[in-house]
Amino acid sequence: MVDWFFHTGLHESHCRCTQFAVTRAHQHAELLMNSRPKPHLPRCSSSRITTPLVAVSVPGWNPTVWCKLEYLNPSGSTKDRIARYILTKAIRRGELTSLGIVVEASSGSTSIAMALACAQLGLTFVAVMPEGVSNERVMMIRAYGAEVELTPKPEGIAGAIKRAQIISENRGAYWPRQFSNTDNANAHRNETAQEILSQIDTDSIDLFVSGVGTGGTLVGVTQGLRDAGCNVTPVLARPIDTGVMSEVECSSFSGRIPGVVDGLSTIFANANFPRLQEIEVSDEEAIEVTRQLIRCGYPVGPSSGLNFLAAVRSIERHSADEPTAVTVFPDRMERYFSTELFADM
Ligand SMILES: Cc1ncc(COP(=O)(O)O)c(C=O)c1O
Repeated sequence: MVDWFFHTGLHESHCRCTQFAVTRAHQHAELLMNSRPKPHLPRCSSSRITTPLVAVSVPGWNPTVWCKLEYLNPSGSTKDRIARYILTKAIRRGELTSLGIVVEASSGSTSIAMALACAQLGLTFVAVMPEGVSNERVMMIRAYGAEVELTPKPEGIAGAIKRAQIISENRGAYWPRQFSNTDNANAHRNETAQEILSQIDTDSIDLFVSGVGTGGTLVGVTQGLRDAGCNVTPVLARPIDTGVMSEVECSSFSGRIPGVVDGLSTIFANANFPRLQEIEVSDEEAIEVTRQLIRCGYPVGPSSGLNFLAAVRSIERHSADEPTAVTVFPDRMERYFSTELFADM
């Protein structure tokens, strides 16, 4: 708390005051501190957890894949990492102040994670999402005390992004811009990758596999593993939508595998990955493998099935005998009760 208080600049102004003014300034500061929500950074960092990395094999799919159980993060997805990291950095840089407003456009997990992180930091959060997102998502975000603004469905995520920009300008809100904020990838480079390195006992990691939404996971983890000397090949798990595009996840190139978005990310576009591999997985396969993972005791959403199957295929195509492949299980199954994943239950 004291650290945060000094960070506001009030400390510097004390030094230039007379003794009387110093006393008044202290009284004023005390009043201010008592009337403000309690800070911030310590509570925020205390919610960081290390997610398990487990060797997963599924009946019918031979190779074992190392899977980081990101669905165990506090709000239920890997986006907790970037929400906490981006906001903490912005506060430290002075781009975001206490009692500030944060606005972000997202059709899912990032909004929920931002809402949780803002609740912990005492910030106001405005989630801008395309109409059609599930009611459960809206309720979760509101439960954390955040505002929700819905933009017209036909405009998709692009419409939500435009609206976030307007809110940011009109209300002076901090706009993280997850699709271009390098701290998104840095969160994974400095945290997710470091956890993986400390959890795995093989000499090297050959393959890192992930779907791409903002690209933060694939770019950041690959960079972090390479920083540590791993000769890792990044593998993009690409869902092939064989059905009708869902209008809900308007920007996804597979409407049925939420979270995976095409073409919006400058993080991904700017990453220089000459050895990038792409593995295609049909939605049917991804959903079937997700059901199998759930039956094996991993309560995951469809992108985990996508990532797992792409990892299995990347192992099969690799030239080494038993390459080590790592992937992530990004989010929890509860978010998908009203989707095709649970259609036959
Ligand atoms: C639910 C979910 N969250 C996040 C991501 C992607 O994360 P990023 O935005 O880091 O690319 C995916 C992609 O696989 C996903 O399915």
